[in-house]
Amino acid sequence: MTTSSEATTAAPAVAVLGSANADLVVEVDRRPAGGETIIGSDLQQFAGGKGANQSAACAKAGSSTLFVGCVGEDSNGEFLVRSLEQAGVDVSSVNRIAKPSGTAIIFLTPDGENSIVVSPGANAAFDVEIAKATQPVWSRADAVVMNFELPMATVNYVAAAAATHNQRVILNAAPAFSVDEATLRVCDPLVVNEHEAEVVLGEKLDNYERVAQALRGKGARSVVITLGGDGAVAADEDGVFRIPAYEVDVVDTTGAGDAFVGALASELSAGTTLRGAMEFATAMSAIAVQKHGAQPSYVTRNVVEAFISENQTRSQ
Ligand code: RIB
Repeated sequence: MTTSSEATTAAPAVAVLGSANADLVVEVDRRPAGGETIIGSDLQQFAGGKGANQSAACAKAGSSTLFVGCVGEDSNGEFLVRSLEQAGVDVSSVNRIAKPSGTAIIFLTPDGENSIVVSPGANAAFDVEIAKATQPVWSRADAVVMNFELPMATVNYVAAAAATHNQRVILNAAPAFSVDEATLRVCDPLVVNEHEAEVVLGEKLDNYERVAQALRGKGARSVVITLGGDGAVAADEDGVFRIPAYEVDVVDTTGAGDAFVGALASELSAGTTLRGAMEFATAMSAIAVQKHGAQPSYVTRNVVEAFISENQTRSQ
């Protein structure tokens, strides 16, 4: 294992501590039932993993971005690191582990929706020791982004440490697990989709404005709930508001939530308001669903800005 802990370069705006996966995608007409074999498309491979995706989107949105994560000493590890480099991400704190790189097996249906099984591989080795070893580097960022494809103990350690460094903590509670109370209290924002929101809250409510407020009531400093075609709802100290979605042709939703989180982190670290950051992130994600793959569907800031100015009219 190699670990870079030298703080030799300029401080990054955003540090993403997270997972990297090789996404193995098969297009299918429908999901197979238990015990059933169906025939799908040729296999395609894309660079993915929630953490790597979020860092690629953040860098493309224009922020200096550090990715801290673990990949295997294998060709997929090379592939994943190269994809991040191409997106402009600082990969000097990526650890090479004697395990296979993380892999995601993805079934993509004609409506652009997916079913994903993640085999964590090297990502599971991202323990508290690695978080501590890389802390001199990630603790210099303005904001820290994490998701739940990391061991929970690592997420909780980094959240607590980041709060003591006065770093903004952006937690994407995906895949869905409940959030430790102390970690929830430093989230600004907690970012969840509909399903994750219910898991974190522990109950169903009749509308997402109420869910967002209830999650704040549980301790999060601010909350963003992404709702796909229904936009996103947020709650912060100024109240609750909704950002509408763009109407676009959906080809592949894989990584669209990560595009949102990465773009949101980029904007927030630059001092944009939560509402403004969500406007930008919604556009980044609307562009991402129109292309195949996670990281290959992310675009640079100027493309997002052009899309926003060309699409002023949206459903409310
Ligand atoms: O959020 C999408 C990502 O989830 C995919 O890229 C896949 O790797 C899984 O981690």
